[in-house]
Amino acid sequence: MSDFEPFYDVKHSYEDNYEQGPFGAFAEALKGAPSVVSGDSSPYKGESEKKTTAGTAEEPVSGTFLGQPVNLPFGIPAGPLLNSRYTTAAFRMGFDLATYKTVRSRAWGCNPFPNVLAVHPKSADGSLTPGSAELDEGVLADTNYEQPISISNSFGVPSQSPDVWQPDMHAAIEAAGPGQVLVPSFQGSRVEGMSEEEYIADHATTARLITETGAKLMVMNTSCPNEGHNRLLCHNPLLVGRITEAVKQEIGDIPLMVKLAYIPSDDDLELMVRSTVGHGTVQGFSTINTISAKLVDANGNQALPGAGRDRSGVCGNAIRGAGLDMVARLAAIREKLGLDFKINGVGGVVSPADYQAYRNAGADSVMSATGAMWDAELARRIKASL
Ligand SMILES: Cc1cc2nc3c(=O)[nH]c(=O)nc-3n(C[C@H](O)[C@H](O)[C@H](O)COP(=O)(O)O)c2cc1C
Repeated sequence: MSDFEPFYDVKHSYEDNYEQGPFGAFAEALKGAPSVVSGDSSPYKGESEKKTTAGTAEEPVSGTFLGQPVNLPFGIPAGPLLNSRYTTAAFRMGFDLATYKTVRSRAWGCNPFPNVLAVHPKSADGSLTPGSAELDEGVLADTNYEQPISISNSFGVPSQSPDVWQPDMHAAIEAAGPGQVLVPSFQGSRVEGMSEEEYIADHATTARLITETGAKLMVMNTSCPNEGHNRLLCHNPLLVGRITEAVKQEIGDIPLMVKLAYIPSDDDLELMVRSTVGHGTVQGFSTINTISAKLVDANGNQALPGAGRDRSGVCGNAIRGAGLDMVARLAAIREKLGLDFKINGVGGVVSPADYQAYRNAGADSVMSATGAMWDAELARRIKASL
């Protein structure tokens, strides 16, 4: 893989990737086009001179994403697209849905480098099963990036401050071509001493800041740590319900999608749907996020350096089975309750067949993070396969 350059270079820090990326084919795609990143203090409201085309005007529209027409309902979820240079390059490479990496109400630092290691589960097909003993016993992680690729994702959800990300997100929205949609992603920030009411309000504030960029829709990440080790916000459906209530009051008719981690219990998943879609606050779910595993080096020692990093989220090939399972169960609940909401399938999509498998499982749209990082041509390959 020596001549291959993922657009997010895992051998460099998050900060270097933010400043210097994207790399490889995505960098090529940006050449010769007007710059879209507003690194200066120019106002972003009003007339935009930054409109660029993605060269996809002649593509037929074959789907929608939360009401917006899209050429193909396929793209990249929150994570590897760090700013408008990345999202614009993604559009030009034919990813019709480009998610702007999760933003917060305040600047937030990144976990120390390294953040991404290659992960090697024991099973023959390289899969990891939610709830299996292997996740707690330790999975080998190193710098041997083999395909089909699985990686660790240990960033801590860094964010720029709103005065940096708001103008840049506006530029990112403006750079979408015909049949393409920029998808903003956000989450709340739990800081020391914060009450539950303040935590809820932080989500609503961040959602309002996103509406100011001209966003037509947004995704709220609930697959982030809530209270205590390994307990995620999405494991508390009633709290997610209260948060979406507060967010909805800020964003009005703008569609809201909720990003979920793998939820093993059907009852909990149904409660999530009832507490959100059932109250008219949520129009879709994006799932899954990473699966948490203990990561060890070849000697059995902690693979990622530093306190609290014995476990990390794993994504890519290893989690496709879990993602498909979650989408199928969500689709069954949609059917059972007779509710109308969209499902965005995420997790381990590395080939056109994987895209199709998610659509067959009930996903209205599909996204790939790790697979796209290691294959910048993935959207084009899927389109060619249809
Ligand atoms: C480098 C990287 C950074 C990520 N950061 C975020 C994030 O900020 N917010 C979020 O909701 N998910 C984040 N994710 C999770 C992805 O959106 C996705 O749910 C997960 O990686 C599974 O998809 P995959 O198997 O295609 O990678 C990140 C993933 C990667 C690879």
